[in-house]
Amino acid sequence: MRVMVTGGAGYIGSHTCKALAQAGHEVMVYDNLVTGHREFAQWGDFEYGDINDARALARSIRKFHPDAIIHFAAFSQVGESMADPGKYYHNNIGGTLGILNAMRDEGVGSIVVSGSAAVYGQPKKTPITEDMPLMPINPYGASKMFMERMLADFAAACGIKWMSLRYFNAAGSSPECEIGEMHNPETHLVPRIMLAALNKAPAIQLFGTDYPTPDGTCIRDYIHVDDLARAHVLAAAHLDNGGKSMALNLGTGRGYSVREVIEGARKISGKNFPVIEKERRAGDPPSLVADASLAGEVLNWKAQKNLDAMLEDAWNFLSKHY
Ligand code: UFG
Repeated sequence: MRVMVTGGAGYIGSHTCKALAQAGHEVMVYDNLVTGHREFAQWGDFEYGDINDARALARSIRKFHPDAIIHFAAFSQVGESMADPGKYYHNNIGGTLGILNAMRDEGVGSIVVSGSAAVYGQPKKTPITEDMPLMPINPYGASKMFMERMLADFAAACGIKWMSLRYFNAAGSSPECEIGEMHNPETHLVPRIMLAALNKAPAIQLFGTDYPTPDGTCIRDYIHVDDLARAHVLAAAHLDNGGKSMALNLGTGRGYSVREVIEGARKISGKNFPVIEKERRAGDPPSLVADASLAGEVLNWKAQKNLDAMLEDAWNFLSKHY
């Protein structure tokens, strides 16, 4: 397949480009480098461009002739989306609309997008299945929900095939450490812990110790970025082979508390960095764990890497880059 990857210079996008190339597909990265890293776009062609620039997008599609688009180019910080919802609606919804219009006009048949567990909001029960109600509690989650709605409407109107992969908590990096998780500012738990372990932050702040969970801290389903990347390759192939359009959860099905992640990181890094217990962070649900069995049935996919592998790869990547 020829696959155009928007946001292919970003964290999950770059790992997916690597997995696509390893599976023998032709890749073109389309990225405006606002949050992406040019040095992460190591597989296939690179086109500098914005998804909101309809002419540039159409030009790149005509040049590359993709069979499919994998669309990562979106903003992804929950807190920022609360403070600046317009930024999220403009880029995540408006940008996806631009891609769908371009696909319709240029005849690109299928798209795989980054969905999110944030579409479920504060679910009443876990593990979470795809048929549970979509009730996002922040503009980021809402933008991901509307993206899925647009995909379904374009599918009905002009036959575009789609898949939305609803990630739980992505973590880790390629074991080769040439690409990895590097956001600015960094808000995610695993890299923030590693920055404390590397003495780049004075301590890790633990947000909330009074949740209704066994150790009082939030539980999340951490999933290795290489497992996510592999799922995108399978999803694109599934659509290419005439498979059904749908949304799928991607997680391991196993949750870990913030304290467990901190203990795991201490063991792997060998550093006894300080932990400061803080108030709850606004909008954090106590527990988010995926039921990813549908992805198993549809894509024959299962997460293969455990939390220790994620922590080890994150530690090695950040140690190398700081
Ligand atoms: N946490 C800390 N200290 C930190 C950072 C995080 O204690 O310095 C805690 C959070 O409060 C939360 C857990 O660690 O309980 C995980 O937090 P992350 O920020 O790493 O991830 P989230 O679960 O908040 O967010 C993830 C994705 C989002 C997605 C969301 C779905 O990153 O894109 O899951 O709810 F929207």
